[in-house]
Amino acid sequence: MSDKELKILGICGSLRNKSFNMAGLRAAGELMPAGMRLFQIASIGELPLYNQDVLDAGMPEPVKRLRTEVAQADGVLIASPEYNFSVTPALKNAIDWASRPPDQVWQDKPIAIFSCTAGPVGGARVQYDLRRILGQIWGHVLPRPEVFVGNAASKFDAELRLTDETTKKFLTDLLVGFKAWIERMSRK
Ligand SMILES: Cc1cc2nc3c(=O)[nH]c(=O)nc-3n(C[C@H](O)[C@H](O)[C@H](O)COP(=O)(O)O)c2cc1C
Repeated sequence: MSDKELKILGICGSLRNKSFNMAGLRAAGELMPAGMRLFQIASIGELPLYNQDVLDAGMPEPVKRLRTEVAQADGVLIASPEYNFSVTPALKNAIDWASRPPDQVWQDKPIAIFSCTAGPVGGARVQYDLRRILGQIWGHVLPRPEVFVGNAASKFDAELRLTDETTKKFLTDLLVGFKAWIERMSRK
């Protein structure tokens, strides 16, 4: 274990202004244990829709920025809703852009996931699709704890501050586990 502060990049799978997942990411930034910091939340809404012709014409600036942010992060924390039982188009697009060679930036990247949804199930299904997608590009997704925030409207106040103590505890456990996971992955 080193004294280096771990830099965490947040990625939110929802683009909407009042996203519960974005609110959850911000809350996670405040709940991080000592030695770990949310240094940035990526702007994946600026990415063009993936198109090989666009890439061949030159990597767009927002894509370069995302790839640099992922590459420089010690770990990536993803918060996402599920859309029709799976990954949102914005998140899949970001994963795909960052997965293209050269320098496939998900390679060996420690990743943790949580999901917030309006309904009761909390995004259980999207998490398994995300694990499958990220695993095949050699991202190392923290296996447990799993955090599914269902009925999200009841867990945040009108200003989108996380108010539910049980959810805070689940997120704290996730972040403590994530820190240990990153340290484990970086052990030679
Ligand atoms: C296209 C679409 C599909 C959705 N499908 C699901 C779903 O399969 N499961 C679920 O729990 N919620 C589903 N929802 C509802 C989301 O959980 C809800 O809109 C949530 O608040 C989105 O997250 P956000 O607040 O971060 O934007 C869907 C929403 C949209 C727009």
